[in-house]
Amino acid sequence: MAKPAPNRPLRPATLLVRGGLMRSNVDETSETLYLTSGYVYDSAQQAEQTFTGEVQHFQYSRFGNPTVQMLEERLAQLEGAEACRATATGMAAVSSALLSHLKAGDRVVAARALFGSCHWIISTLLPRYGIQTEFVDGGDLEQWKTAFKRPCQLVLLETPSNPMMELVDLTAVCEMAHEAGAIVVVDNVFATPLLQRPMKFGADVVVYSATKHFDGQGRVLGGAVLGSKKWVEEVLQPFIRNTGPAISAFNAWVILKGLETMHLRVPAMCRSAAAIAQMLEEREEVECVHYPFLASHKQYALAKRQMAAGGTIITFDIKGGKAATFRFLDALRVIDISNNLGDAKSLITHPATTTHSKVPAEDRARLGITEGSVRLSVGLEDVADLIEDIATALDAAAGNTAAPRRKSAGRMVVEETAEAPAAPAKAARGGKRKAAPADAPAPAHAAKAAEPDLFAEAMQGLFSDPETTPAPKPTKRRQKA
Ligand SMILES: Cc1ncc(COP(=O)(O)O)c(C=O)c1O
Repeated sequence: MAKPAPNRPLRPATLLVRGGLMRSNVDETSETLYLTSGYVYDSAQQAEQTFTGEVQHFQYSRFGNPTVQMLEERLAQLEGAEACRATATGMAAVSSALLSHLKAGDRVVAARALFGSCHWIISTLLPRYGIQTEFVDGGDLEQWKTAFKRPCQLVLLETPSNPMMELVDLTAVCEMAHEAGAIVVVDNVFATPLLQRPMKFGADVVVYSATKHFDGQGRVLGGAVLGSKKWVEEVLQPFIRNTGPAISAFNAWVILKGLETMHLRVPAMCRSAAAIAQMLEEREEVECVHYPFLASHKQYALAKRQMAAGGTIITFDIKGGKAATFRFLDALRVIDISNNLGDAKSLITHPATTTHSKVPAEDRARLGITEGSVRLSVGLEDVADLIEDIATALDAAAGNTAAPRRKSAGRMVVEETAEAPAAPAKAARGGKRKAAPADAPAPAHAAKAAEPDLFAEAMQGLFSDPETTPAPKPTKRRQKA
């Protein structure tokens, strides 16, 4: 049995480690993984009473599971929401929130800047059921105001949006939406509850892809819907129970363990993202940088009001169109090309040809997604390594250096040189450093003097005050002799 919770509010870091913990009668330390699809009853009467609701008892893991319940309780406490239901994916969370609330004849108002699959649900799926949507530019309050002149049942928005980092003024839009009779559903994936809690600004429902920062290590899919107890129990739960977008207990358990470190991971990723965004602004190969906490962001004041930090994601445009952008992506050696985000590994995406390729070209253009736009999800690597990787790849994009070949699968392999093959031990350890010519071995003491002590420098950086430490500049790393 877990100890009773203290009679005072707990801070986010504590909630992320302990929120929702339910210990079994063997008093385990770690959250238990209840990998079971069903449950047994002591008697036929207990089974009957469970189904009538007179007795509280788990029935079937499509409706409820103790591991999943721990995750739901932890997320509800973190968000400051009355109730939560976890789902198999972020898209299951979005579609459950929408389809459970809406009916034929209803009208939705949505910010145009939505993740590709959310855009598909709104513009392709909902009309099949007689639900129409009006899209507005999320940053333009006049457009919201005009859209709310007609009755509306639901608002869907992302802030910051994927991928262009456009913000929506939550207080203003929630106020107008409520007057029009709508509930506001906020997809808060990019901000995470650590940077922004939309319910504080009036949102009714918050949805997440737990696949991203909650797991944070790129392992499992998951999602969550949070709202009032009444809405979750009366509107959402019957839909989830009967349509079955349930998360597996295993995935819920992985996400619970991921949450335990989210308050360490996300701020570190945000610090690196801010440093990279600054560096990108100084590069002439870069057309523009979209990052909420850059003073150049068109909604900088709103970002400062609404968010605790700028986030872990930066979108920027590379000059020279698709060809230069692909040269840049292919020249990266630390950052991986992937359409995922929120991972410990830095990942980069070309939205126009991947995540947003199904969004009609004119809508993409309207959102500002060009052939040169790339979305960078900043991970937990040393920021100096990321900055060096980006700087080298930007040189390649501009044609200032030959783009090195991108290696498949194992990736961090030593580039073979004509002179000598790389030693396998070094390849496994790290790297990209070129193998020394076989005919010029340097003595060990000379190598020590030439190589800066990257490990010691990095550790110093890790423990220095981020407020007063300037962002590292890309350095030309000396080759190991
Ligand atoms: C903003 C946003 N919402 C929802 C989703 C969907 O999440 P999932 O892939 O877990 O279904 C994503 C996925 O990238 C996303 O970026």
